[in-house]
Amino acid sequence: MKLLEIQSSPRGESSDSITLTKSFIEACKSDNGSIVVDTLNVWHERLPEFDYEAIGAKYKAVKHETMTEAESNVWERILSLIKRFQNADRIVLGTPMWNFSLPYKLKQLIDLVAQRNYLFTYDGKQYGPLLHVKKAIVVYTRGSCYLEGTPIPPSRFDYQATYLDFWLQLIGVRDLRSVIVDNAWNRDPRESEVSLAKGKTTLERLVEWFLNESRRGKDESNGSRTSIHKSKERQK
Ligand SMILES: Cc1cc2nc3c(=O)[nH]c(=O)nc-3n(C[C@H](O)[C@H](O)[C@H](O)COP(=O)(O)O)c2cc1C
Repeated sequence: MKLLEIQSSPRGESSDSITLTKSFIEACKSDNGSIVVDTLNVWHERLPEFDYEAIGAKYKAVKHETMTEAESNVWERILSLIKRFQNADRIVLGTPMWNFSLPYKLKQLIDLVAQRNYLFTYDGKQYGPLLHVKKAIVVYTRGSCYLEGTPIPPSRFDYQATYLDFWLQLIGVRDLRSVIVDNAWNRDPRESEVSLAKGKTTLERLVEWFLNESRRGKDESNGSRTSIHKSKERQK
């Protein structure tokens, strides 16, 4: 089983999202010794800028036009990143919330790999997925606790999980589970510890579902600060 691990925090050993995804992957590996992990850390990867040449290459690729040398060079790099998505049977992605959304390096990766006829199709009317990733897990860490009925309801403040869940399904993740870990950076460090521990436990319960080839699995809800949802069933 080939697993693409995407790390989006620059905080290395101190990162909550990386710690959680790493412990989940370790648990998966101890259950299934044949897992091969490809780790893509968006901060270490030296992602090319999505600049004049990259956009030129994108448009020329769709129209099958000849690229300049600079466009071809960046296109080769883009294709090598796309290949890592195409090779994956499973995806595990961890990301912090930054300003209610995603860290810009993760968005840069998305802008680079989201190429028509590679990750998705578009016929002018409809989008279709081109990946066949059976299952994916996304761990979303946030400093605050977003709850409906409070001054920071997720329905108004969450542009993190809403966007990434949507995008992963658009490109072909068939069964997606999101583990939301609120309160990871609370004024009271004990609150954060409790929330992160709950996130770890929630992830451990998902190992069996994640490794299983079938789509069936247990759904758990783990309280308000750490919650898991099948993204399609998400309450707004
Ligand atoms: C630049 C930056 C922006 C942040 N913006 C938010 C935010 O909008 N909402 C929030 O709840 N937490 C925010 N946080 C807190 C992080 O989401 C939180 O600490 C998270 O657990 C960090 O994950 P990491 O340890 O994997 O980097 C922000 C942190 C940073 C560094």
